[in-house]
Amino acid sequence: MKDLWYKRAIICCLDVGTFMDTNGDGVGDFAGVTKRLDYLAGLGVTCLWLLPCYPAPNYDNGYDVMDYYGIDPRHGTLGDFVEFMHQARERGMRVILDLVVNHTSSKHPWFQRARSDEKSPYRDFYVWSKQKPEVNLPVLLPGEQKSIWTHDRKAEAYYLHRFYKQQPDLNISNPEVRDEICKVMGFWLELGVSGFRVDAAPYLIEQTGVDAPGTVDPYGYLKEFRDFLSWRRGDAILLAEANVELAALPEYFGDGDRLQMLFNFVLNQHLFLALVRQEAAPLIVGLLQPPTIPETAQWANFLRNHDELTLDKLSQPQCETIFQAFAPQERMQIYGRGVRRRLAPLLDGDPRRLRLAYSLLLTLPGTPVLYYGDEIGMGDDLAQEGRTSVRTAMQWSDESNGGFSTAPKNRLVRPVISGGDFGYERVNVASQQRDPESLLNWMEKAIRVRKGCPEFGSGKLSIVETGDAAVFAHCSAWQGRVVAAVHNLSDTPREVSLDLRSFGENHVVDLLGDRECEPLDGGRTWVKLEGYGYRWFRIGSTWA
Ligand code: GLC
Ligand code: CA
Repeated sequence: MKDLWYKRAIICCLDVGTFMDTNGDGVGDFAGVTKRLDYLAGLGVTCLWLLPCYPAPNYDNGYDVMDYYGIDPRHGTLGDFVEFMHQARERGMRVILDLVVNHTSSKHPWFQRARSDEKSPYRDFYVWSKQKPEVNLPVLLPGEQKSIWTHDRKAEAYYLHRFYKQQPDLNISNPEVRDEICKVMGFWLELGVSGFRVDAAPYLIEQTGVDAPGTVDPYGYLKEFRDFLSWRRGDAILLAEANVELAALPEYFGDGDRLQMLFNFVLNQHLFLALVRQEAAPLIVGLLQPPTIPETAQWANFLRNHDELTLDKLSQPQCETIFQAFAPQERMQIYGRGVRRRLAPLLDGDPRRLRLAYSLLLTLPGTPVLYYGDEIGMGDDLAQEGRTSVRTAMQWSDESNGGFSTAPKNRLVRPVISGGDFGYERVNVASQQRDPESLLNWMEKAIRVRKGCPEFGSGKLSIVETGDAAVFAHCSAWQGRVVAAVHNLSDTPREVSLDLRSFGENHVVDLLGDRECEPLDGGRTWVKLEGYGYRWFRIGSTWA
């Protein structure tokens, strides 16, 4: 019997530095996350994905690691980390860490040795070129990054960096680098983590600039890392960030012998298109375009995260449609094809649309990944530069600094959003906990119901004809049981008739919905939905 915990998981991504500050220095810490574990457990989160929390100059929000075996002293000590791990385990919560090994910080001792001494064994840890290389691919962060090659005066050579110049790329074709990566995984696995979110996976395995490219199979490395991981800890997972072409996706999963999970960027972008157009069709494209994946593999679904909302998998006109509706001002856009806003402001803070979006996230095939603060509908701060707009501090209460920190305002690692519709005075955990109608209480309930329906996460998908372009309906079947969900993407009430006979007996049980449920008769079933309404059902069996 396969018990794949990651298919049942509710993952929440959070940044230790902006979650909860306990010592009043203005920076969130492990003691703070530990203190808030009951909140996260109460919400129904079963797995935390921590953004990088290693020592770093923080040029790229921790994605510029200086020491893979430590904790950024601003967040506490390794001892605080172990205490946090213990408390998470006490609550049955797993933890995965960001594994940032496409590059190091330029301040990492490896790079410092590599640039100072051509004979150093660390020289070949990075990718160098004496001449300005001809292979000059487009930059990933236009406006913030000039080139992918920068000249280093000390080394008298150019080095490759797919991201900022403060992040030199590691040379994965060097076996010693691959051994180091395994050692890093081994270290944190010993401390109890359940796996890693593999940062920038396509760039990690690419061979741009290395000698004799093409002589090794880049995807073979993925198997190497997976084997190491699985020998050390059988149930640990690798969840990769790989926003690649459709044709390349199967390579990342292999036969189920490479990575277990990938973020579903295709579905993410089409979901936003469906929300704008108020039509089911883009959603269906987003579900059917990605390849069928091995039995043990799984998609990670998300709405927003700590980066921009990338629209690179859509056509230019589709992208424009989304910009017009969700990011009409230039300051809301980034990198040409990205939106630097959080979910709630993007949907005008409309509770119906937020619930619709989350209802989709929780029912579409895959594992939902939440971004901290989105469960209370936090906003963004467009006055912040770049992607920092969506990385503001957690809003716990209407006390000063939103209850995030007792430090003076000017000492905070990031400003807390204050004033307006999304300020901490209005949007915070404490007030939503008291309000039975709040988004937070709705989320808790929806997550609870989703957990009782593992079919949504693990099942085989069937799209059900609704006869209405605005209404999307689907069933998920798993281990002989079937659940269904119906979503009205439009703002007007709808009534659709669904033929559910092929999915089970004449029995349909209501699980969750936006309105009072009238008893449904199986067979051909009439379903009423409010504008932006949604309903979840179990088919062909009793509630239990
Ligand atoms: C990933 C991260 C992003 C970071 C980049 C470089 O895309 O999500 O925040 O800037 O990798 O590490
Ligand atoms: Ca602190």
